[in-house]
Amino acid sequence: TELDMELAAIEKGGYDHFMLKEIFEQPQTIYDCLRGRLDADKGMITMSGIEKYAEQIMNANRIMIVACGTSWHAGLVAEYIFEELCRIPVEVEYASEFRYRNPVVHQGDVIIAISQSGETADTLVAIENAKENGAIILGVVNAVGSSISRLSHAGAYTHAGPEIGVASTKAFTAQLAVLTMIALKIAHKKGTISIEKYSILCKELAEVPDKVAEVLKLDDSIRLLAEKYKDAYDFLYLGRGYNFPIALEGALKLKEISYIHAEGYPAAEMKHGPIALVDEHLPVVFVATKDAYHEKVVSNMQEIKARKGKVIAVITEGDTVTPSIADDVIILPPAHEIIAPMLSVIPLQLLAYHIGVAKGYDVDKPRNLAKSVTVE
Ligand code: G6P
Repeated sequence: TELDMELAAIEKGGYDHFMLKEIFEQPQTIYDCLRGRLDADKGMITMSGIEKYAEQIMNANRIMIVACGTSWHAGLVAEYIFEELCRIPVEVEYASEFRYRNPVVHQGDVIIAISQSGETADTLVAIENAKENGAIILGVVNAVGSSISRLSHAGAYTHAGPEIGVASTKAFTAQLAVLTMIALKIAHKKGTISIEKYSILCKELAEVPDKVAEVLKLDDSIRLLAEKYKDAYDFLYLGRGYNFPIALEGALKLKEISYIHAEGYPAAEMKHGPIALVDEHLPVVFVATKDAYHEKVVSNMQEIKARKGKVIAVITEGDTVTPSIADDVIILPPAHEIIAPMLSVIPLQLLAYHIGVAKGYDVDKPRNLAKSVTVE
């Protein structure tokens, strides 16, 4: 009815779709996630659920992360962050595989379950089994009071608010913010991070909401890029290090929303397969913000150009080399490499959104997908 349509329009707060609204909410949702926890000036991170189990986490022989979909990608970023800052080995598992393959779980093992809905069946059963074997379950969950949050011993909510669009956006950046805070807290307690680096990262984390707001100003130019590339049949997304999972997430967003086939790959691994696909019809998105691997990524980019692929590069302000190689660049504000994924994912969300819209698809309800997969 007309009333229903009006109500829906009000809920979307002036945006055409929930997905776009949720992408644009990210400065606020990340702020809400940090608020009351991170005090960058004092160098303090307060997370009561995590504090209760801090000793066990610090002394864990390894941490296992279980999740599905976009949440699994947040887990991959967390793996790199925890290993770098806390020097604890991390394994990231697809919940669906973990629950069926008789995994080795010992008394006192630490398992982090990441879930927007808190109701994903595979993730829920995976941690149920692990809990029976004596593991400590920490939940990084968005939906308050959900099954996964209730089953966890402790955890931290992501506080991103309800996410309606089927493709996860704001929940993902909030997951990254929470996981980064947990890693910083544990590293600080454990003494595996220098005081200087700790305080730099706390400050950088506090600056993320403002930087995300900066990145969102690129919306118009990304819409134009979407027009330019919307008829491609395949996309390749490449990144290294902290940006490798972001390449996976960018490819997933495009598949979900625009039904264009897309693959995410570690940039250096492309020469073991995907490079065979490269020709003048293939757009390749490089997540190439300034980090320790940047020069390597640039040489991967040159390999694509030598084979006539089209390069769209997400780079950092001040990068003078990449613009002369890439066909198109998306320029982000500078950020520490550990923080950068929260920024570099934003243009990829927008690119998928605008391509989906340009192709005339219902981006809030993509075919065959469910917001929350509560059955196997
Ligand atoms: C579904 C959704 C994805 C989500 C995944 C995991 O596939 O469409 O957006 O990433 O489930 O969901 P969870 O709620 O556990 O994060």
